[in-house]
Amino acid sequence: MSNLAVIGAGYVGITTAACFAHLGHTVICGDIDAEKVQRLAKAEIPILEEGLTALVSEGLESGRLRFTVGAAEAVDQAEFVFLCVPTPQRESGEADLSIVEAVVREIGRFLSPNTVVINKSTMPVGSTELVARVLGQAGAANDIGVASNPEFLREGNAVRDFLNPSRVVIGCNDTSVAIRVSELYDGVQAPIVVTDPASAEVIKYASNAFLATKISFINAMANLCEVVNADVREVALGMGYDHRIGSEFLDPGPGFGGSCLPKDTAALIYLAEQAGYDFSLLRGVVQVNSYQHERILAKLRAAAGGSLSGTTVGLWGLTFKANTNDLRDSPALAIARALLEEGAVVRAYDPVANEAAATQFPAIDVVSDAYQAVAGASLLALLTEWEEFRWLDFARVAGAMVSPRAIVDARNMLDPAAMRRRGFSYQGVGC
Ligand code: UDX
Repeated sequence: MSNLAVIGAGYVGITTAACFAHLGHTVICGDIDAEKVQRLAKAEIPILEEGLTALVSEGLESGRLRFTVGAAEAVDQAEFVFLCVPTPQRESGEADLSIVEAVVREIGRFLSPNTVVINKSTMPVGSTELVARVLGQAGAANDIGVASNPEFLREGNAVRDFLNPSRVVIGCNDTSVAIRVSELYDGVQAPIVVTDPASAEVIKYASNAFLATKISFINAMANLCEVVNADVREVALGMGYDHRIGSEFLDPGPGFGGSCLPKDTAALIYLAEQAGYDFSLLRGVVQVNSYQHERILAKLRAAAGGSLSGTTVGLWGLTFKANTNDLRDSPALAIARALLEEGAVVRAYDPVANEAAATQFPAIDVVSDAYQAVAGASLLALLTEWEEFRWLDFARVAGAMVSPRAIVDARNMLDPAAMRRRGFSYQGVGC
């Protein structure tokens, strides 16, 4: 078992630290936010992530997991250092590596001989080399190894994805270092792909871009189905049985959001542009995605009789998908903002993100349950697929709403026939 440092206590960092401690390693996780560190030391987790609180508690109790303020403090005894710091998106789409560089400069001279520094956050092609270069400038010893080991963690499913991954990808030019990194995953059943750093970095972007492409494809297909009177749910079912296609990620909706897919597609388009390649396919994927917000708005506008001005719209769901409290790049918020711009009164409810949404978006009237969100509303937009929305008392919902009682179900969650029977006018996506 090894001594690990994890730098950055975001959802990737906390999950990485807690899961490696669970596998038996000794892990110190460092973050610059002292308040966050204090709370983590009490197993108070700032993100909604199934199973993570239990794993952090287990790690703290066994003594194999500790949290500390700062990066240099964390790397003191480390044989492996995982960089899990943010790589935000610049205006151009380019990933901003300034935090990575700052951390590497800070830790460089504190690293013990033979330590391996590993990029876990999604970083553009060339980042592993960049880390090696900055380590050199920061006075690190020559025998420090560098590797890329990208994460493929879905929010809300991160612990399961870490402990039962579809694959572990290790990008490293030194095979003995790659083997040492792969040994950290002993106990995890998964194919291990050892490759060069640039290929590992591209694998991460290519995987997310492919998932984004699949979503935009089915969204475009949904829009076509609406015109030709086909049902996209049937289409997806019929397509998904082909193993080459697969049935996952074929749910049409309000477009992909979150902290990864929008950022990573933009970064890949930028990367291609810099390399002189016009990745028009991916530009199309992004275009279809923004258009999807407009499609939902257009349905609401049409249901309101052509203008949303003065219309009260109830929104169900604000997070970018269910089972996370993450509001970053949420299609629901993009739609809420557009509704406000068109003069609608927006009343919203989210099962977990109400407080954060109310603070960040004071123009939205955030209420504490799904029925309040539709009180006096003529339109309802279901924007995030929280399971509780399926099981509400729809007679009560109908009673709370006013004519025309139109539902725009951006997640195809509700039963169209049952909704129409209850007197709602109902529209899904592609059906
Ligand atoms: C994604 C990748 O799945 C993960 O491997 C990567 O490491 C991080 O980015 P995440 O952002 O947590 O994970 O969300 P994901 O479950 O992939 O969903 C992304 C977006 O696509 C969400 O907005 C979701 O609502 C949307 N989506 C997903 C669809 O609209 N339809 C689908 O069929 C699937």
